[in-house]
Amino acid sequence: MGPISRRDFVRLGATTVAAGAAAKTILLEPSVLAAQTPQTSRQIRFVSIGTGIRGCDLLRSAKKVQSGVCLGTADLYEMHRKAGVEAYGADIPTTHDYRELLDRKDVDAVIVAVADFQHRRVVLDCLAAGKDVYCEKPMSHNVSDGLAMVKAVQNGKRIFQAGSQRVSNTVYKKAAEIFKSGRLGEVTSIEAYTDRNSPSGAWVYPVAPDASAQTIDWNAWLRDAPQRPFDAERFFRWRCFADYGEGVAGDLYVHLLSGMQCVTGINAIPERAYSTGSLTHFKDGRDFPDLLATLYDYPGARVNVHCNQNNAAGDITTFYGKEATLTINGNTLTVTAQDTRLQPEGYGLDGWTTETKQKYLSDWHAAHPEPPAPLPAPETFAAPQGYDDTADHIANFFQAVGTREHVVEDEVFGNNTATACHMANYSYFHKNVATWDAAAQTIKG
Ligand SMILES: NC(=O)c1ccc[n+]([C@@H]2O[C@H](COP(=O)([O-])OP(=O)(O)OC[C@H]3O[C@@H](n4cnc5c(N)ncnc54)[C@H](O)[C@@H]3O)[C@@H](O)[C@H]2O)c1
Repeated sequence: MGPISRRDFVRLGATTVAAGAAAKTILLEPSVLAAQTPQTSRQIRFVSIGTGIRGCDLLRSAKKVQSGVCLGTADLYEMHRKAGVEAYGADIPTTHDYRELLDRKDVDAVIVAVADFQHRRVVLDCLAAGKDVYCEKPMSHNVSDGLAMVKAVQNGKRIFQAGSQRVSNTVYKKAAEIFKSGRLGEVTSIEAYTDRNSPSGAWVYPVAPDASAQTIDWNAWLRDAPQRPFDAERFFRWRCFADYGEGVAGDLYVHLLSGMQCVTGINAIPERAYSTGSLTHFKDGRDFPDLLATLYDYPGARVNVHCNQNNAAGDITTFYGKEATLTINGNTLTVTAQDTRLQPEGYGLDGWTTETKQKYLSDWHAAHPEPPAPLPAPETFAAPQGYDDTADHIANFFQAVGTREHVVEDEVFGNNTATACHMANYSYFHKNVATWDAAAQTIKG
């Protein structure tokens, strides 16, 4: 798909509005449209490191954002190099050694989409070369990687965007506006989950037919991880193994928590996390559970998160307020008022005699003669069909690179979210409550 024009959006929007009119759905405009008129004097010249599953998706999204242009890509695997060029749909150079790209003086920024355990090394190299960085989520593989990355970004005064695209999603921005308006009343609880029920949802990705030690530079891939002989399953299914990924916490919690941070404005590491979980189905030698549930104490919020890889219950985040409930289901947001109107007691009178009950009710109605105001109808907001929040997130990054203004998901935000994911795993594996020791900058428990 090429860039979305305003005319396309109007057409796309009109269809959805007509279809959703009965359901009172209000369509939200993607902010990528604004970003398509470059707000800086020139296009941002970027390169991409890592053109596997996500790297290719990022290139397809970046292609829609006219404020940037890709000058080249790098990957350690031959087929992924070709797939990256195909994804961008232009004749761009591709290399095995990303340092060649970082040496180029005409490159402003780098999109990093290597596996989680490689983020630190690659990002620090990009920063040392003076480049601004968009790094995929979760920002870090562990607490010390995150701290090192925050320090390097701040010391180098670079622009850094963590890649949880939900933070730029038009639906989450609308939710933040509603949350901040106070319309939900006091929010006492937040619940978020992403549940799937398929081998793909549990990262049992196929091993490509040409995968071998000849087509993949295994030693360069392992680099800082423990050495072991070539293992194609580990290359394609790295999320299952603690040497490279962080299980559902790093893969999925990070989206739920970045969305929560975006809506509530909380930008902090939780004080405590308690996890439970189990590995019941995908017993394929992986290190992580296929069900993980965590209770978090954030400053000012109780957040309950889970990911189940054995039941496809969807991707839902709910904010439970005293006055209303806000639910985000995929790219649709609904606000439903709570019925807090004054009413006479019902259940509590069941043990009363009829005479006493009737007297109470007639006194109550005499004291409240006005009929109650009608309850507001639920209100729904949705992103247009085919909406791509990754394009919005990249657009926000390019704009910051050009203007040196702030991104929506900087290194502190990204590190806070990633650290919360590490706390969830820490609690699960230590069978204890994980606490964040802010003075020592470490997890304890
Ligand atoms: N934001 C999202 O929705 C989203 C979705 C999927 C993945 N991700 C994240 O994107 C990142 C990549 O995930 P993926 O699924 O694409 O993994 P992948 O294994 O499919 O791709 C990673 C690629 O990086 C390459 N690579 C690794 N080290 C390299 C190096 N030193 N030089 C050049 N290339 C190198 C590998 O060869 C591989 O092709 C991860 O951090 C993941 O968590 C984010």
